[in-house]
Amino acid sequence: MSSWQVSEGLQIAIDGPSGSGKGTIAAMIGKELALPVLDTGLLYRYIGWRAEENGVTLADENAVLSMLDAAVAAMDWQAKGIVFVEGDEEKDCTSLLRSESAGSRASKVAAMPKVREALLGVQRDIAKLGCVMDGRDIGTVVLPDAQGKFFLTASQRERARRRWSQLKAKGEEADLDNIAADLKARDARDTGRDCAPLKKAVDAIHIDSTTMCMDDVVERVLNVLERRKLINKK
Ligand code: DC
Repeated sequence: MSSWQVSEGLQIAIDGPSGSGKGTIAAMIGKELALPVLDTGLLYRYIGWRAEENGVTLADENAVLSMLDAAVAAMDWQAKGIVFVEGDEEKDCTSLLRSESAGSRASKVAAMPKVREALLGVQRDIAKLGCVMDGRDIGTVVLPDAQGKFFLTASQRERARRRWSQLKAKGEEADLDNIAADLKARDARDTGRDCAPLKKAVDAIHIDSTTMCMDDVVERVLNVLERRKLINKK
């Protein structure tokens, strides 16, 4: 039970670069306000994964597009993540989509305008009843009328350090310099693409979390929503 009264259909958009903590913040805010949380990065990760499963190279955009409709039709986006449905068979592929290599593939398919277009309706449909949605273009393109928009950043070094400690905590091999180089390349792809690049919406609140703990970021977000009377303490 949430201790907040939330205005009907409240949409909260949280955008930012890889490793800025937006996924963690979105999950914490969703829990606090009892709103569904939608991690849109998973959608692009899923398309990259389907392409790989179908033996399609990401350098061949037409080949990716030819499998796109079937991939979207077979996708069920649930609260727990993404389920791939084929006939009677359901496969929860979320854990496969969280790998570093899936992230790298995702950033390549995310630069394809037709892929973005195919996923736009899916995202808007799910957001209709209210949600916390995190991604790169939520405040600018997907939900331009969202009542709460936040743009979360942190220095590149700090974001690399966070990813490094996450991988270490999972017992995986991780090299800070490699992670930093990968983040830099991903930032360049996400901000430099022509279609829906990562950028702050003019009406989004910028929060630099480099020296903040996640609880403080959540408090800041809740303060803004409360001041705007989008949420009220019960
Ligand atoms: O947030 P993430 O690391 O799971 O995102 C994976 C890739 O998908 C990332 O390179 C950026 C892209 N992406 C996007 O272009 N638009 C979104 N709304 C979400 C993710």
